Amino acid sequence: MFSYSIDDELQLRLYDQRDAETMHEVVVRNREHLNRWLPWAGVQQSADDSRAFIRRNLVQYSEDNGFSAGIWYRGELVGGIGYHYWDFHNSKTEIGYWLVENAQGKGIMTRSVKTLIEYAFNILQINRVEIRAATENTRSRAVPERLGFKLDGILRRQSWLHDRFVDHAVYSLLRDEGTHGL
Ligand SMILES: CC(C)(COP(=O)(O)OP(=O)(O)OC[C@H]1O[C@@H](n2cnc3c(N)ncnc32)[C@H](O)[C@@H]1OP(=O)(O)O)[C@@H](O)C(=O)NCCC(=O)NCCS
Repeated sequence: MFSYSIDDELQLRLYDQRDAETMHEVVVRNREHLNRWLPWAGVQQSADDSRAFIRRNLVQYSEDNGFSAGIWYRGELVGGIGYHYWDFHNSKTEIGYWLVENAQGKGIMTRSVKTLIEYAFNILQINRVEIRAATENTRSRAVPERLGFKLDGILRRQSWLHDRFVDHAVYSLLRDEGTHGL
């Protein structure tokens, strides 16, 4: 099972069913904040929805196709991070993430993403890590920019967000480019 302590305060841990109630409470408390950029935050209505997500996530992990992990800061669940897929044929993956509102501004996500990048490059031997963010989501775009990703381009009207299409910025980092020290 994936479990990784970044430092004394910050841990990434594959979700298991015991996290379902906590996950649901965290999403409910932060629904307005998460809804701004994430289509799923409004859809998750009950702890059963969290349980179903965790089940799908464990299946995805068992199929060697990525996983999502909870981000635990000082013992509290403050966000999530994961690989949307592992494509070993093309040697690439994509990372997605979210944080609760009051955990922002501490570098928690930048450090968590760096951990998943290192795992992808060093353990999975993957060549390309991608991060996509809505062009107007400046906080999210700042994460790959801080870590030295290159902007590959803009995908126009890439996804439907509640009531409108949004453009996505696509960033990538290649294995031989490494990560910037923090
Ligand atoms: C996107 C999101 C994760 C970014 O969170 P964040 O807190 O800005 O990112 P980090 O945790 O990396 O923190 C960076 C901030 O901490 C500061 N910081 C403090 N210590 C730091 C450290 N050791 N390393 C890096 N940054 C540090 C940085 O200066 C930066 O502050 P600033 O925003 O004032 O410039 C968050 O806004 C979020 O979840 N939003 C809603 C969901 C979402 O948009 N998800 C992404 C969809 S693509």
